[in-house]
Amino acid sequence: MSDQREMIIVMDFGGQYNQLIARRIRECKVYCEVVSYKMPLEEILAKKPKGIIFTGGPNSVYADDAPRCGREILEAGIPVLGICYGAQLMAYLLGGEVTTAPVSEYGKTQVSTDPHTALFHGLPQTQICWMSHTDYISRVPEGFRITATTSDCPAAAMENDDRKLYAVQFHPEVQHTEHGTEMLYHFVREVCGCAGEWEMHSFVQDSIERLRAQIGDARVLCALSGGVDSSVAAVLLSKAVGKQLTCVFVDHGLLRKDEGDEVERIFGPEGPYDLNFIRVNAAEHFYEKLAGVTEPENKRKIIGEEFIRVFEAESKKIGHVKYLAQGTIYPDIIESGLGDSATIKSHHNVGGLPDYIDFDEIIEPLRMLFKDEVRKVGLELGIPETLVFRQPFPGPGLGVRIIGDITSEKVRMVQEADAIFREEVAAAGIDRSISQYYAALTNMRSVGVMGDGRTYDYAVTLRAVTTSDFMTAEAVPIPWEILFKVTNRIVNEVKGVNRVLYDCTSKPPATIELE
Ligand code: XMP
Repeated sequence: MSDQREMIIVMDFGGQYNQLIARRIRECKVYCEVVSYKMPLEEILAKKPKGIIFTGGPNSVYADDAPRCGREILEAGIPVLGICYGAQLMAYLLGGEVTTAPVSEYGKTQVSTDPHTALFHGLPQTQICWMSHTDYISRVPEGFRITATTSDCPAAAMENDDRKLYAVQFHPEVQHTEHGTEMLYHFVREVCGCAGEWEMHSFVQDSIERLRAQIGDARVLCALSGGVDSSVAAVLLSKAVGKQLTCVFVDHGLLRKDEGDEVERIFGPEGPYDLNFIRVNAAEHFYEKLAGVTEPENKRKIIGEEFIRVFEAESKKIGHVKYLAQGTIYPDIIESGLGDSATIKSHHNVGGLPDYIDFDEIIEPLRMLFKDEVRKVGLELGIPETLVFRQPFPGPGLGVRIIGDITSEKVRMVQEADAIFREEVAAAGIDRSISQYYAALTNMRSVGVMGDGRTYDYAVTLRAVTTSDFMTAEAVPIPWEILFKVTNRIVNEVKGVNRVLYDCTSKPPATIELE
């Protein structure tokens, strides 16, 4: 399988941008794998890589515990590109000198590059690159020449073209390096000679083959939330191992209107996928546990814990399962060390499954991908667009969109109001330009008048934000006509609601969800 095709190996030395390197290589239409720096040389060579990239890392090459590989890898006749720490390691392994830089460089830095070089040809001679280092190469190894400099870094890049060894002190994978992708393109497509035939459908094919080889005839359990990530992971796994996979979908009664049925329609027996699909309708159970609880963190904790209990009870019925599959994607992975697959994450969008469920290993087929790539895989797998482009929905669901205690009646109100809001935003054609939008139920009741009678009902609040990373967000100025129409529909159609508010707060100081 993978060793038949052109491939770049990214050797992970613990840098924070490692996955970005992999992403940039994928953008050059070249397949790549991120592996631990500890991988033995024979295993690396067995993969027949066309090129190797050493990543950055937080250490100093001279530190006792610095992650290092042997110099043999640089003598295997395979082109190598060292980035930041990887550049210093290359210099160190080949007899150059690395020392603490008199001036650390951090951030956008002006770099002078030699255009008569494999990496920098065709690029401006002065360009902005992203630096982040305290050590630097103070003497390049024999046979190398300096190909870039900055005012504080005499060897910002070096190369030995005969041996196909290249090194850059800056980070070409980061967007702030203006021509970084071109440099990586030069390396993988020209130096390494990759033809660039890799596409997302290759990812799908590769993953299917790999999963088959890894799983054999064992059984796999997947917690399916109906969100993009777990849905894509489930379909990918089902294509790989068919009925060896069982998907458990816990409907905690805090989903958006009709969402449970929608998930069942797609993944259940009537849907296009031949899955072992188990839907657990646990709404009543969750409402009971949540009765009278108003404190946000308590609510979250109860929902998370009950989710696990329900999931656990279901998985016990299935018997021993070797693998638990999760839809973890790269941004979920907090620590680096992708190559060290022993790292088992607790962060997950279905609420952090416990490690005491009866399984041996975790499978995360999407852990190398960013969200937009997961969506591409989803489309490639034929998952409906409505699901693939579904906006993020928190694991605790409407539980964090109902301020105060949760009742089935309040869930109904927020579901109906939210459905109206979504319908109108979609009808206005602005849904894809908003990162996340929803209706929530405040615990404020106020007096209104309806017909000839007095009402004393709840207020719904509408929220819509744009964001690139969900760490900060801006409220969206939805046109008044749309808000007006949504408001009218909600107060007329949703029993128990007599007022609609619009949340104009950005994050910070507010968060995207209300609780
Ligand atoms: P906040 O409210 O923290 O939300 O600004 C940021 C993003 O995270 C989502 N969110 C969650 N997602 N489990 C999740 O999977 C959770 O417990 C959770 N809480 C918030 C939220 O919808 C937004 O996209």
